Amino acid sequence: MTLEEKLGQLQLLDNPAAAADRAAALDLVRRGLVGGILNAHGAQQVNELQRLAMQESRLKIPLLFGYDVVHGYRTIFPVPLGEASSWDPSLAEETARIAATEARAAGVNWTFAPMVDIARDARWGRIVEGAGEDPFLGAEMARARVRGFQGRALAAPDAVAACVKHFAAYGAAEAGRDYNTTDLSEWTLREVYLPPFKAAIDAGVETVMSAFNDLNGVPASANPFLLTDILRGEWKFAGFVVSDYTAVPELIAHGLAADEADAAAQALNAGLDMEMVSRLFNLHGARLVRQGKVPLARIDEAVRRILRLKFRLGLFDRPYVDETREARLMLAPAHLDAARRAAARSLVLLKNQGDLLPLRKDLRAIAVIGPLADSQRDVLGPWHAAGRAEEAVTLLQGIRAKVGAKTEVLYAKGCEIEGGTTDGIAEAVRVAKAADVAIVAVGESAEMSGEAASRTSLALPGHQLALVKAIQATGKPTVVVLMNGRPLAIEWVAENVPAILETWFAGIQAGYAIADVLFGDVNPGGKLPVTFPRTVGQAPLYYNHKNTGRPPQPNNKYTSKYIDAPWTPLFPFGHGLSYTQFRFSNLQLSRTRLSTNERLVVTVDVENTGQRAGDEVVQLYIRDVAASATRPVRELKGFARITLAAGERRTVRFELGPEHLGAHDRHMRFVVEPGEFRLYVGNSSAGGLEARFDVFD
Ligand code: BGC
Repeated sequence: MTLEEKLGQLQLLDNPAAAADRAAALDLVRRGLVGGILNAHGAQQVNELQRLAMQESRLKIPLLFGYDVVHGYRTIFPVPLGEASSWDPSLAEETARIAATEARAAGVNWTFAPMVDIARDARWGRIVEGAGEDPFLGAEMARARVRGFQGRALAAPDAVAACVKHFAAYGAAEAGRDYNTTDLSEWTLREVYLPPFKAAIDAGVETVMSAFNDLNGVPASANPFLLTDILRGEWKFAGFVVSDYTAVPELIAHGLAADEADAAAQALNAGLDMEMVSRLFNLHGARLVRQGKVPLARIDEAVRRILRLKFRLGLFDRPYVDETREARLMLAPAHLDAARRAAARSLVLLKNQGDLLPLRKDLRAIAVIGPLADSQRDVLGPWHAAGRAEEAVTLLQGIRAKVGAKTEVLYAKGCEIEGGTTDGIAEAVRVAKAADVAIVAVGESAEMSGEAASRTSLALPGHQLALVKAIQATGKPTVVVLMNGRPLAIEWVAENVPAILETWFAGIQAGYAIADVLFGDVNPGGKLPVTFPRTVGQAPLYYNHKNTGRPPQPNNKYTSKYIDAPWTPLFPFGHGLSYTQFRFSNLQLSRTRLSTNERLVVTVDVENTGQRAGDEVVQLYIRDVAASATRPVRELKGFARITLAAGERRTVRFELGPEHLGAHDRHMRFVVEPGEFRLYVGNSSAGGLEARFDVFD
């Protein structure tokens, strides 16, 4: 390979179809100056581009085709934050498998997922793309998604290479403003932000995407500590690292690089292998090598990593995709079934006063109200790949399909999601009064979360709260169905409306799945993967916080709290109700004293004491009471979603070892420290059964 051709492999180019100069972009492919293309999808389009590389370039190296298949390709599953609410990694694996099957059939062989950024600040719009605030749940979901995307063999026609992103600490953006700087201790980086990345790498993820943000003064895309010391040195990662979209030239705006050549040199030397969209490696790489500013060995290493993936994907043997497979596979009945099941499993029943839910199917009339009740576009969420709004099922459609012929379903939009007037509220009130029950779908539009969609308010936007208040004031039993990409501060709703169902953006089958839950065909069992604050002023609010020297006390002003709002969440991490009840008892530890390398078995009995079958997510938390570096008040270390028939009781078993009890000490060594530990097992991060044990040296 010439040096130019080597640099060509490091180039990920945007879809030539979208380029200002399409002919010039295609010419780069012909000249062997492109390693991969993003945003091209569809078997025919991909094959055409691949043909250029395979037939017209000198070396005939196949192209990678990357695309953001984040929660489904054409069959759109719940947004990742929603899917994390299922607390069911096997479900995440299954939906990623289906996404990979559809994507590969459409020519995509590389997905920019899973996004595993921990997000503690609900203002940050990208919270919707990850698994929430907890490193343990995040790591479980990361592992499952990687396994699902990559399958057992990458060369199979139903597997894609995964790309864990955004490395690292992108979710710690100051003030929740997207792309903002991050400044955090190495302890927090290692304890909170890195574990899901490590889990993805242990699961065999093929690629990593470097983040936009700067971390403690060094932008992630040119950060040798992240890209080389941790990724290669500590974790032995053998795949390649791609930059995020134009992150290399952005090193200039960050104030790190003086010019484009400097940006390319710093990124390459830090360990970045492939450049997305911008072409600084291509334009400056050869000169940098000749000047001795970037070692040729560094370029060779990057090229090898990229070529290795192309071999593993089987692209040298089978560069093209079968164009008939695509149409056969998209939206296959089994995929749609999985989408409905995944959506139902990701719903979280936040409140259900007086057992208002589930509803009877033979009501005389049901009012379906709200700007999100009949929006096909919004239920798909902000990253919906090749998903099509016209194929999505809205809540209104789902309810109509569920109830019997004798039930009248009345609909009124009431108001817009944002802006607009209150003029439609009167009609919505009239509709509610004519019905036996009112179901009000409110929240955010899909565009209000995701990339570059941070908010300073966590309130229901526009006139939606006024709409809910007006409906509630009719005296009709009211159910609020939330659709949103982040935790919302909905204190009035939580205090006044009897039933609230969090549905996030539940995907292509949203309406059917929500109706399954509202009418009791499915008993909800999801749990919050994020804390719901009462007010935006509490952000960032998360359950695994430090205790401080002055933990909040009700009657003591000089403790850590606010003078104008409680310090507690509206709904804690791990919260979620069911149509049945569960009793936890008989918490047993296999030992109450153990050495630093011993293991501990924890068992608890869980009994369904209600009248119907249901799911409970049994959650285990620990607290290291005194450590050389302070530890959170609680840390999730185990969970299990179980299904129990009415009256059934089961013993749930957890095993804890050094990997659960250890943490980083002041010198960033991962160690189990002797001393007292507390352990909690329950149905959320608040309360639960409690035990203690001691670790000795
Ligand atoms: C996003 C990435 C995404 C990439 C390619 C960027 O703007 O930050 O998450 O994978 O675009 O679409």
